Amino acid sequence: MYKISVIAGDGIGKEVIGSTIKVLKVLDLDLKFDYAEAGWDTFLKTGKSVPDETLDKIRSSDSCLAGAFTSPSKKVEGFQGAIRYMRRELNLFANLRPAKTRPVAGCLENVDMLMVRENTQGLYVERERRYDDVAIADAVVTKSASNRIARVALAQAQKRKKELAIIHKANVLPLTTGLFLDTAMEAAEDYPDVNTYDVIVDAAAMRLVKYPSSFDVLVTTNLFGDILSDLMAGLVGGLGLAPSANIGEQYAIFEPVHGSAPDIYGKGISNPTATILTAAMMLEHIGESEAAKRLDEVINKVLKTGPLTPDLGGKASTSEFTDAVINALK
Ligand code: NAI
Ligand code: MG
Repeated sequence: MYKISVIAGDGIGKEVIGSTIKVLKVLDLDLKFDYAEAGWDTFLKTGKSVPDETLDKIRSSDSCLAGAFTSPSKKVEGFQGAIRYMRRELNLFANLRPAKTRPVAGCLENVDMLMVRENTQGLYVERERRYDDVAIADAVVTKSASNRIARVALAQAQKRKKELAIIHKANVLPLTTGLFLDTAMEAAEDYPDVNTYDVIVDAAAMRLVKYPSSFDVLVTTNLFGDILSDLMAGLVGGLGLAPSANIGEQYAIFEPVHGSAPDIYGKGISNPTATILTAAMMLEHIGESEAAKRLDEVINKVLKTGPLTPDLGGKASTSEFTDAVINALK
């Protein structure tokens, strides 16, 4: 039996988690779901975006599956972005975001890459201050965090094509992203079989769009990884298909790349594929590789035949798509 804590969060997080749990229940696995709360709605209700009991539930379960969490674009006193808080609090330092070709219109061919994003530092330490018309944000980079994320990326590269691109902006920020670059390059000396090279982030953005199949594993700091992983999702069918994992030494939270999508929330048309593929990453992580592979294959089958949700050009609702996945599994 595996105990899985489940946090739907905000907006379409509630829709895509609901459908993913339905899919997981069809698999021949002994999963026990333990529901917990976090996010903007939880903050409005309780004054805390992540209640302590939610952290306790995550700590006492085998893994955690999450939906999406709203963060307002204006400063709200006392509010902490839920997912960023949980990443830091549980030390989920590695954010793995694969992007690979799927059988849908508008998806590029021969793409199979993995973003390894540092998940606890950079500008996402959320230390901002304002002095009248001047605003300042701290970007924190440490040698130890850069070293551990580089080693995650190098280990991934070793299992894949033995190619690693370090993405940085050391030419402008030599002390912060330069420390990240130097530390990652140093770690790479222990992996002589991995071809490690560096690319400056703006050039990387262009190269990702123009020559995506020239990349295999990429490693970078928090903000660059956030931006580039959405870009990578856009190359292979969009955010409706992009899974992600937040992994630490003790705990892990699996959540899709996308957010709470207020523009479509409540219409019943969100694409649950990203979250189903995220659940597949979770199953792989807890050792249920066969079930993970089966989910991945069934998703490709349904993406080929339809029905598809509107983000992929179809007319299906979230529940019609979910039913198709469940029928394909049975
Ligand atoms: P978003 O990722 O929620 O949506 C961007 C666009 O993609 C929207 O047009 C949306 O309709 C579409 N989209 C996203 N997921 C989809 C799905 N499963 N099916 C179909 N279409 C989908 O990003 P946005 O709109 O910039 O942010 C909305 C809220 O989400 C904000 O409060 C933001 O802070 C939060 N957010 C949370 C994240 C997380 O929990 N990890 C990640 C990104 C944003
Ligand atoms: Mg993002």
